[in-house]
Formats: sequence, C-alpha cells, structure tokens
Amino acid sequence: MTVPTSPGPAPQDASSTALGAQLLRRKPISQMIAQANADHEGPRLVRSFGVLQLTMISVGATLGTGILVILGESVPLAGPAIWISFAIAGLAALLSAVSYAEMAGLVPVSGSSYSYTYATMGEGMAWICGWCLVLEYAVSVAAVAVGAGQYVNEALGIFGQVLPDALSQPPGSGGMVNIPAMVIVLLATVLLVKGAKESAWINTSIVVIKVGILLFFCAVAFTAFNAGNFEPLLPMGAAGVSAAASRVFFSYIGFDAASTAGEEAKNPTRDMPRAILLSMLIVTTIYVLVAVAAIGARPWGWFDGTEAALVKILEETTGQPWIGFVFAVGAVLAIASIVLTVLYGQTRILLSMSRDGLIPKIFSRVSRRTGTPVAGTILVGSVVALTAGLVPLGALADATSIGTLFAFALVNIAVIYLRRARPELERTFRVPLFPLTPILGAVMCGYLMLNLGADTWVVFGLWMAVGIAFYFGYGRRHSKVAALSTAEYLELSVSSPTKAGTP
Ligand code: ALA
Repeated sequence: MTVPTSPGPAPQDASSTALGAQLLRRKPISQMIAQANADHEGPRLVRSFGVLQLTMISVGATLGTGILVILGESVPLAGPAIWISFAIAGLAALLSAVSYAEMAGLVPVSGSSYSYTYATMGEGMAWICGWCLVLEYAVSVAAVAVGAGQYVNEALGIFGQVLPDALSQPPGSGGMVNIPAMVIVLLATVLLVKGAKESAWINTSIVVIKVGILLFFCAVAFTAFNAGNFEPLLPMGAAGVSAAASRVFFSYIGFDAASTAGEEAKNPTRDMPRAILLSMLIVTTIYVLVAVAAIGARPWGWFDGTEAALVKILEETTGQPWIGFVFAVGAVLAIASIVLTVLYGQTRILLSMSRDGLIPKIFSRVSRRTGTPVAGTILVGSVVALTAGLVPLGALADATSIGTLFAFALVNIAVIYLRRARPELERTFRVPLFPLTPILGAVMCGYLMLNLGADTWVVFGLWMAVGIAFYFGYGRRHSKVAALSTAEYLELSVSSPTKAGTP
C-alpha cells in the first residue's frame, strides 16, 4: 500500500469538499502508522526509548511544583481528608490513563490525544484537541517555569543572596523579567535540540532526585506522626474533599507525556501503555504518602495560610535550616524536569499536527544531524521562554486544567468509539471493565471541569475562539487528509494495521 505524503488531488465528490464533511473526516490509523514508520519525507525521529525512559518522561512531566506548593491551598478545603482528595483526583487521572494506555498501544505515533481524536472523531475535534494540548503543554510549562524565580531565591537565601525582584518576577508581579524561568526554558530547549536520548537521561536523573526528596520528606515527617491529627476526618464535609480534588488535579497533569513519544520508543505498542500506568502508580502513591505524612506531622488548621508547608515541616522537625536549601534545589530541579519533558511533548504534538498540514511545515522538519525537530523546538522554546519571563500566568495557568480535562475526556470517548467501530484492530492493552471505565473517566473529567470557576471558562472560551479562527485561516486549507481523493481515502480507511506500529 502506498501512503500519499503530499497533498493529493482535490477531492472528487462534492460532499467531501463541504465543511461538515471535512470536519468529520477521520485520519486512517494505517496512514498514521505508515507515516510514522517510513513513508514521510526527510529524516525520521530516532527510536531510543525503553519502558524506563518512557515512564520517567511521564513522571518527569507530572511530579513537581503541584505537590510542592499545593498543600497550603488545599488542606484548608478538605481537612485531614486531603489524602482522599489526592486519591479522588488520582482516580480521575487513572481512569483517563487507562484509556490513554489503550490508545497509545493502538495508535503509537507522536501526537498523543490529538492523533487519537483524528482517528476517531475527525479533523474538527482533532484540531480542538490539539489546540487544548497547547494549553496543557506550552502554557502550563510557562506557568510552571514562572515559579523558578521564587525557588532560586530560596536556594540563594542560604548564602545570604537574593536576585532582585526586577530580575526574578514578571511585569505585573513587581518585576521586569523572570530570568530564572527564561534560563530554565532555554536550557531545556538546547537539550531537546541536541537529542531526545540525551534529554531523556538527564530527565531520568532529575526524576530520581525529586522522588528522593519527597521520600526524604515522608521519612522525616513520619517521625513526628500523630494519629490524633486525623480526627475528625471530614471537618469540611464531602463537598470540601471534592473541591480540594479539583484543586489538586493540577498535580496529576503530565502523565500522558509518554504518549507523545510513540515515534521515539523502541517498542511503542508494548512499552507506552506500561509507562503510562506505571507512572500513574508511582505519582499517586507518592502524593498520598506525602499528604498522609504532612497531616500526621501537623494539625490540618496549621496549613491555612502556610506557604511552602513541606519545607517548614522539615525545618521544624529536624531543626536544620539547610533542609530548606535542599528542598529549594529539589524544587528547581522538579521545575526543570517538568519543563524539559512537557516542552518535549509539545514539540512532538506540533510535529504531528504539522505533518497533517494543520499548522506550518516548520514544526515537522526533522534535522538529519540530530534526529530532532530542531526548528520547531527552537521556535516553541523561544515563545515559551518569553512567555515565562514576561507574563504572570495566574488565570492562564488555571486554564491549563480545563484544556487538559477536555483532552482527557476526548480520549475516553475515542476508546469507546474505536472499540465499536474497529473491534478487529490489534490492542496491546485493553481498558478493563469496558465500557464502564471510559464512561466514568469522561464523566469525571466533565465533573472536574464544571468545578472550575467562571473566569477559567472565559479564558478557555477565548482560547478556543483564537484556535477556531486559526483553523479556518490556515489549517482547513492545508489539511492533507482533506486533500486525499475519495478513492485514496477509502483505500486507507479500510486497511487495518496488524501489529500496529511495531517497528
Ligand atoms: N503536574 C505538574 C505539576 O505538578 C503540572 O507541576
């Protein structure tokens, strides 16, 4: 079978030229896999990741700033039951994670939920999903990097030094430019340009350190454990636990990052589902442990208004001020690995969208020398660095959760659709308790979206309006799937991949 790699002749029948038909036109899975494996022009990405690196990519993108700062804000909402809020948010993420795992084994390409949606719900929803993923990835990475200035100052504080606000805060937050945030993003960009394998090993090392720091916190906090701090368990009622679950959901964002590495995995159909599920297990266990250890160490009322609660517990329990330094360094490293892995994911999603013609070609040009999308990486890294350096991202950061939840809901729906429409396709991982699990996953995502505030919905609406305008101004006219003739399209649509994506 020959897979066209450049726009084919104009569509032959009138219906396929209509807007509705184009929006609903699905990208055949066989074409996605053929493009990823051999048939697209120019050099390919290099397959270097095993299950360890893939798991570390997901943990690297997930575990970090959220857990380090979120307790002060969320414990007052839930009380000692905060660990239940982490478990509920973890369950919502896990239900979607199993759907990601099934889709990652079935469509092992670089585009994550954007590709899954293109294969199932058509170009219109795929575009919306891809645009939401820019919120989840590029905007969240800028938001996470903004926190770097604060932690660099905490670390420098032990030597009696601080960066002036002018150089560590963006305009609007009392400064001029957030230099640490920009430096972290630019360093990550350089690493990603040099090679995905090198970046993955640096990420793995950082993940080991940040997991170590959180386990160290648990070990110290458990020495001050007081079971009485868990009485009463639900002072704020079930509603408080649920509100806190929406708040802490942010700390689970990122587990899907392994699903952006489909074309750089050695055995994607086997390893990507494993990596996604393993990373969720690691992250949820650590979050629940940290929450239990923190509440065991301090009564829940203590957390109200307490900034950097984990550092304070460590300093007070050990009586050692250098602990704060260690933790601040850990936080900077956590930020660095989130920036590295999430930026990586964003460049690979944009590569898939560009290959489909929905965004300019520059994002899918892979360098012959490094085997990475150099131009796209530099472009994305520069825009994210500028955003992180200059914009205080409060409202936009909240919007990352809504964009992420929307993309997760679409993946759950995609699993249901494909099980019905293409039951014969080979699946290396199958969602258990189908269709209950993906239905619950989609419902939980919708529920958490509804819990987010009106401001967040307004930002989300504006973001989608810009995305839709871009699609009509560019994507619709350059789409390669829309440009396939009906005969080509039908041929691709009926051919089923066997052993999908195994290189
Ligand atoms: N999950 C990421 C964090 O907690 C976004 O920083």
